[in-house]
Amino acid sequence: MSLHCHHDRGTPARTSTQHVTLSIDGVPVTVPAGTSVMHAAAEAGIDIPKLCATEQLESFGSCRLCVVQVKNRRGYPASCTTLAEEGMEVTTENDALFRLRRGVMELYISDHPLDCLTCSANGNCELQDQAGRVGLREVRYADGQNHLQEATDTSNPYFAYDPSKCIVCSRCVRACSDIQGTYALTTTERGFDSRIAAAGGEDFMSSECVSCGACVAACPTAALMEKSVIEMGQPQRSVTTTCAYCGVGCSLNAELQGEKVIRMVPDLNGGANHGHACVKGRFAWGYATHADRITTPMIRSSIRDPWREVSWEEAIAHTASELRRLQEKYGAESIGSITSSRCSNEETYLVQKLTRAAFGVNNVDTCARVCHSPTGYGLKQTLGESAGTQDFDSVMQADVIMVIGANPTDGHPVFGSRMKQRLRQGAQLIVADPRAIDLVDTPHVRAAHHLKLLPGTNVALINALAHVVVTEGLVDEDFVVDRCEAEAFNKWRTFIADPRHSPEATASVTGVPADEVRAAARLYATGGNAAIYYGLGVTEHSQGSTMVMGIANLAMATGNIGRPGVGVNPLRGQNNVQGSCDMGSFPHELPGYRHVSDVATRELFESVWGVPLSDEPGLRIPNMFDAAIAGSFKGLYVQGEDIAQSDPNTGHVTRALESLECLVVQDLFLNETAKFAHVFLPGASFLEKDGTFTNAERRISRIRKVMRPLATYADWEVTQMLSNALGYPMNYSHPSEIMDEIARLTPTFHDVSYAKLDRLGSVQWPCNAEHPDGTPTMHVTEFVRGKGRFMLTEYVATEERVNRRFPLLLTTGRILSQYNVGAQTRRTANNAWHPEDILELHPVDAEDRGIRDGDWVGVQSRAGETVLRARISERMQPGVVYTTFHWPGSGANVVTTENSDWATNCPEYKVTAVQLSRVEQPSTWQKQFAQFSEEQMKLLKQEPAGAPV
Ligand code: SF4
Ligand code: SF4
Ligand code: SF4
Ligand code: FES
Repeated sequence: MSLHCHHDRGTPARTSTQHVTLSIDGVPVTVPAGTSVMHAAAEAGIDIPKLCATEQLESFGSCRLCVVQVKNRRGYPASCTTLAEEGMEVTTENDALFRLRRGVMELYISDHPLDCLTCSANGNCELQDQAGRVGLREVRYADGQNHLQEATDTSNPYFAYDPSKCIVCSRCVRACSDIQGTYALTTTERGFDSRIAAAGGEDFMSSECVSCGACVAACPTAALMEKSVIEMGQPQRSVTTTCAYCGVGCSLNAELQGEKVIRMVPDLNGGANHGHACVKGRFAWGYATHADRITTPMIRSSIRDPWREVSWEEAIAHTASELRRLQEKYGAESIGSITSSRCSNEETYLVQKLTRAAFGVNNVDTCARVCHSPTGYGLKQTLGESAGTQDFDSVMQADVIMVIGANPTDGHPVFGSRMKQRLRQGAQLIVADPRAIDLVDTPHVRAAHHLKLLPGTNVALINALAHVVVTEGLVDEDFVVDRCEAEAFNKWRTFIADPRHSPEATASVTGVPADEVRAAARLYATGGNAAIYYGLGVTEHSQGSTMVMGIANLAMATGNIGRPGVGVNPLRGQNNVQGSCDMGSFPHELPGYRHVSDVATRELFESVWGVPLSDEPGLRIPNMFDAAIAGSFKGLYVQGEDIAQSDPNTGHVTRALESLECLVVQDLFLNETAKFAHVFLPGASFLEKDGTFTNAERRISRIRKVMRPLATYADWEVTQMLSNALGYPMNYSHPSEIMDEIARLTPTFHDVSYAKLDRLGSVQWPCNAEHPDGTPTMHVTEFVRGKGRFMLTEYVATEERVNRRFPLLLTTGRILSQYNVGAQTRRTANNAWHPEDILELHPVDAEDRGIRDGDWVGVQSRAGETVLRARISERMQPGVVYTTFHWPGSGANVVTTENSDWATNCPEYKVTAVQLSRVEQPSTWQKQFAQFSEEQMKLLKQEPAGAPV
């Protein structure tokens, strides 16, 4: 039995507005021009046998199983490569066709193992199905040569390639090139010896393969097969859910035996991913049942004490009484919460509700503080809404794509693949990044311009680009007059036209030659639909918010907003960081980005929540840390966020955490923050609960429970129990009821419901009476704030400067195989690709310091010191070094400083002045960290001695 009820029509659907009518086996059918005969037949309900064709890929015509007869035409054309024509009369079944197909099948089968009963694809194999389809019941092995003895390639941790089962249909090769865009596979030789090979290596693992799994999904036999299926057998049921990793929000089908996940298959109907996934969502779900999961609540009175396992009742009662004790002793404002951008909308909503209604304070913040808070601020100021303007599909209509401070092929891989598809179709690419990211030069894609700016100079660059637009007459005057505030625009035009913003004047600051800037600006302004995609390389700066506004200015000035193919698109990092912000996780905003000082909004929430609400913005995360060190902030509830690893200036963070009297951590694992905690409440993975995530395109998608929570409760239930114990009643029986409350209280979510999500699959907010099915493109006829507002964006150099002591700039980023703090991916086989964080540096900087590839290198900044292994790389420019931050012991944040965005406090992770030197051993911090971690792990296993806590 196949779990895939979607019937594969064999070739991609066409969208032409011209139609042709033909007859297939006497059935008339009308299809868009360019549709294959095979696809047209499927539309008419006729299923033509096929092996090498699949709806996800352009046809290739190699197997010849799909032959048909066309009236008044000679021969037997392949229906997958023959286009439907007006008046065509097609026959799909007759004796001649039957014999031809059977002959084809016999050839395949005679060189194929006949162990169907024990084959891992049994019951889900297209070769088996098609053999039955053409009436082949008995086969003999052909005499002479065959491929049955060839060794299986098991080098990839997640899937195997068994050449004996390969029918050389090249679906994998096409999937890797057309869908994924990696071009890792080729067909070797010709004729009989033809087989699949992974390019650039001996086997899959050593090749260029990025383990996205597209080839495995495309393979019609067991030649490419998930190891989990080989080991455990075919899944029995399937539940559609949403990836819990990045902000792309891929829709995945969890295929199961009982409550056991056998594999994750990308959902063809997924609005964000259309059937594609990456190595994380597709394969790296094993953490969810990893032995490190903590499934019993624990408490202790001091972080030097062993943990004591307790019942849920005791843990909740203890937490509530501690938080109340702190409020009585130190004041109401002495406690607060941090919501999780990995948890669901409903859970995030409940944590902020708990904080505002049960704690009675606005001290709630979220990890977006450290990533995209400037996006929220900057886009709200200019466009009126704190979110990206497009859906991902929009990129397929872009003619010019500008990527600023983002690395989509690593950070947002499925969207990165889509962007590459569009670039291969001919869209032009501008990359603004200190480092040569993969997109700059990948198969069939080369950036028209790589603006290799120095870290920290974004605003100078965006101003220079805008200067060219304004001074070379490239402003879209009609758009500006029609859609934007005239006075603000005129002020901006005068400001930006000043010679100090010219490419020539700023070249010495940005390091980008003036003519490159001019050419890029002209391309962006005149190349057709131009879309900007940006990431943390824009936001995590002292001028992060200014840069976001600069981007919005540029898009408005050139009329690149308000239709498909254009727009301003933040690539948001975590799966639900958009959602956590939407749900009111910021200390100054109630759900839907409404300020706590707004009387009408507060009254609305007060009437539904039944308590008075504070009109004073609460503490942001960095303020919480400062207040903790100063002694006025004493209790913190952290759900699913590892601030000890992810926030800058680790030394400062750990001092703050050590100052707390009650740190409550709710998580899957004893993460770095939990090592400073007094209460540990076990969390539930995305597989263990119902809820919704909102991705970077504002798309709300369901997560669905596929197994019971390992620790009994889903996270929203735990928050609810805590609230009840604090005396503020919450009585939701299902997350859908929480969503109903969100919809009632939030205009942009007004028409969202689980019933609607089940019906539509997903929906992009705003979803209300005006847009009942959601909003793929925003600001279409007018901006959310009415008229678009140009903001002045003066470049101010960061205080973090290089000097003789710290002559290099360190910047940070992500890698494909690991995710964020790594708590999840480090507990999967993904470590095979990235077992440690590496420091990349340019050969010149390495030579100056006598550093060789693979050496240990001490990285000193004004904040601290850590040690990383060196990789010498031409991707870097001289003077700039780079690392990732997925391993806690790397201490990337020991060296990052406390500088932050002027408007939002988003830390300036992307610019740290450092010096490097060759060393022989870990840094002092790393040694202390290792020792502290070891002690904490012992306290986890040790039974407490003496009196109970
Ligand atoms: S897993 Fe992805 S990248 Fe690797 S060979 Fe298959 S399609 Fe290509
Ligand atoms: S590995 Fe699978 S998809 Fe690739 S050519 Fe062989 S049978 Fe076709
Ligand atoms: S691209 Fe992002 S959402 Fe999609 S599978 Fe990969 S990690 Fe998950
Ligand atoms: S399905 Fe048409 S040639 Fe293979």
